Amino acid sequence: MFSSRVASFVYLLALAFLVQTAFGADTLFHFCSNSANFSAYDPYEANLKELTGYLSIQAPPKGFGLGSIGQKPNQAYGLALCRGDVSTPDCKTCVVEAGSEIRKRCPYNKGAIIWYDNCLFKYSNMEFFGQIDNRNRFYMWNLNNVSEPQSFNAKTKELLSELANQAYSNPKMYAVGEAELYGSNKLYGLTQCTRDLSSTECKKCLDGIIEELPTCCDGKEGGRVVGGSCNFRYEIYPFVNA
Ligand SMILES: *[C@@H]1O[C@H](CO)[C@@H](O)[C@H](O)[C@H]1NC(C)=O
Ligand SMILES: *[C@@H]1O[C@H](CO)[C@@H](O)[C@H](O)[C@H]1NC(C)=O
Repeated sequence: MFSSRVASFVYLLALAFLVQTAFGADTLFHFCSNSANFSAYDPYEANLKELTGYLSIQAPPKGFGLGSIGQKPNQAYGLALCRGDVSTPDCKTCVVEAGSEIRKRCPYNKGAIIWYDNCLFKYSNMEFFGQIDNRNRFYMWNLNNVSEPQSFNAKTKELLSELANQAYSNPKMYAVGEAELYGSNKLYGLTQCTRDLSSTECKKCLDGIIEELPTCCDGKEGGRVVGGSCNFRYEIYPFVNA
């Protein structure tokens, strides 16, 4: 249903974060699905528009929204998820921005997904709720190498695995935490799932992306595997609001 590419790109930590403003933060990534398209005045478009409006109201108070509008074959399914620490107004700003930006980037695709630091927005003409999205996924990493990759990689995996266990048993399906590194340095981590998943599927999704650590982020000071159903992030500096 969605593009099966697993994309990677290099993440320039210092830049990406400093240029963010309170308004339109930069898009991290998006995919347009080529499996089905619609044309102008297609009933699907009206359903998608209504769904986007609905999710921008439904998602912000709880940080997650899920919905479907219309009847088959023009039914549109979608979800919006904000990072667990994001406030209701910031969540709203992000979801509204995401809903408008993705339509510009994928104007005639029936399915699409877009990610920001603060939120994720996804829709499709096929029902996808409760299923782990293994197709839409990308990596980000910090260019800087750590000085002791072996012990650092082990610590990272340990922290993220612990946070995966916390996330799947939390109603918000979100966890953050930190671990001591050598010296006075600390490692900060985050895990999160979309709340359409069962807790078992959330755990499975997170375990799956944590297995990708050696591919995405071997010995890197920071990294993320970001998918349509779950994601993790780790850094050597704090990156969530307390
Ligand atoms: C949808 O449009 C894209 C881009 O124009 C095209 O590559 C793709 O084959 C189309 N998909 C279908 C199912 O027509
Ligand atoms: C990190 O290590 C890789 C692989 O050894 C190397 O290609 C890269 O230049 C290093 N990055 C920095 C910022 O030193």
